[in-house]
Amino acid sequence: MAAKRPAAALPAATPSFADSVIQWQKSHGRHTLPWQNTRDPYRVWLSEIMLQQTQVTTVLDYYARFLERFPTVADLAAASEDEVLGLWSGLGYYSRARHLHRCARDVVALHGGQFPGSAAVLQTLPGIGRSTAAAIASFCFGERVAILDGNVKRVLTRALAYPGDLAQAAEERKLWDLATELLPEGDLAEAMPRYTQGLMDLGATVCTSRQPQCLICPLQSQCRGFAGGDPQKYPIKSRKLKRSALALSLLWAQRPDGSVWLERRPARGIWGGLYCLPVFSGDDALQATVAAKLRMQLQPMPHFVHVLTHKDLHMAPWAVRASARQASPLEHPAEGAAPSAPGAWFSPKAWPSLGLPAPIRKLLLSDFPGDSR
Ligand code: ADE
Repeated sequence: MAAKRPAAALPAATPSFADSVIQWQKSHGRHTLPWQNTRDPYRVWLSEIMLQQTQVTTVLDYYARFLERFPTVADLAAASEDEVLGLWSGLGYYSRARHLHRCARDVVALHGGQFPGSAAVLQTLPGIGRSTAAAIASFCFGERVAILDGNVKRVLTRALAYPGDLAQAAEERKLWDLATELLPEGDLAEAMPRYTQGLMDLGATVCTSRQPQCLICPLQSQCRGFAGGDPQKYPIKSRKLKRSALALSLLWAQRPDGSVWLERRPARGIWGGLYCLPVFSGDDALQATVAAKLRMQLQPMPHFVHVLTHKDLHMAPWAVRASARQASPLEHPAEGAAPSAPGAWFSPKAWPSLGLPAPIRKLLLSDFPGDSR
C-alpha cells in the first residue's frame, strides 16, 4: 500500500504589509536611538526636525547638546535666535533652526507649552510639514496617519511598483492616499509607532537607494518592484535638480587682538540669518569696497569649494590686518543684498558661539596669514 501523503499544510495567511513591517521592526529595526522609547512630543519633534535632510550619525551630538541646553520647549522658546543658530551651526539648512525656534515660541504662546495632540494641528506650526506632523503624532499619540519622507517614498514606490512620476503633485497625492491605505489597523497605540519606525528603518538600512538588500527584506514576497526585476527604477521622478556654481569672495579682516569683522546675512538666501565674513560677488567688488587704508594690505588666501545641495560655492578669501582702532574694514556697504544687521568686531571669545556657516567657521579656525598658532 502506498504511503499516505501528509495533507498539504494550509498556507499560512500572508501577513499584511503593515504586519510585515511591524514584525521586522521588532526583530531587526533600530531600538536604541536617543529619541526612541519616549512619547514626549518635544523630544520627538526636535529629533524629526534635525533628521530632515541629515544623517542619524550627524544628528546624535547636536540632539544631546540641544536637550542639555534646552530641556523643555519653554527653555528653547526663551532662548535668543542667535543662541539657537549658534548651537545649530554645522547642521546646515538654517531655515530649519529659525522655524524650530519660532515653533517653540508658538507652542508656548498659542498652546500653553504643550504640543498639539493631532497631526492636523501640529501641521499648523512653523517648520512642521505633513510627514513630520504624522511622525510626531504616530510616535507620541498612536495616531493613524501616514509619513512620506524621501526614504518612505522609496520603500512604498518600490513595494507598489508605483508608475507615477512624483515630480507631478497629483501623483504624489495619490501616493499619500496609498500610504494611508497601507497603515495598520487594530491596536494603534502599539502598532503605529512601530510601523512608522519600521518604514524609516527599512528605508535607511534595507531599501536603500543604491544596492537595496532585497534578499533580506521582509517585504520581498509582496514587493512588486522586486517581482518586476528592477526595484531601483523607483521612485520615478522626472525633474532633475540642476546644479549651479557661484563664485564668492570673502573678506577676513582681523584686529591685533584676534577680533574678526562679521556681518549678519540677509534672512533669505545662502546662509540666511547667520553671521559671516563680508561676502562679495568677486575680487573686484571686494577690493572696491574695502577701506582705502586697508586696500594695499589685502592678501589672497587659497581658494576652496564648499558644496551645497544644489550649488557649488567657489570661495576666494582675502585676509587683511586692521588696526585696533579701525572702525569698519569696509568703506561702504557691499553691493547686492545688504546684511540684515551692521557688521561688528567679535572677539576670539565671542565669535565661536555665533551661528556661522560651517565653511566660514573652518576658515576662521585656520591660521590667519602670517600668524602661527
Ligand atoms: N529619520 C527621520 N526620523 C527618524 C527616526 N525617528 N529615526 C531614525 N531616522 C529618522
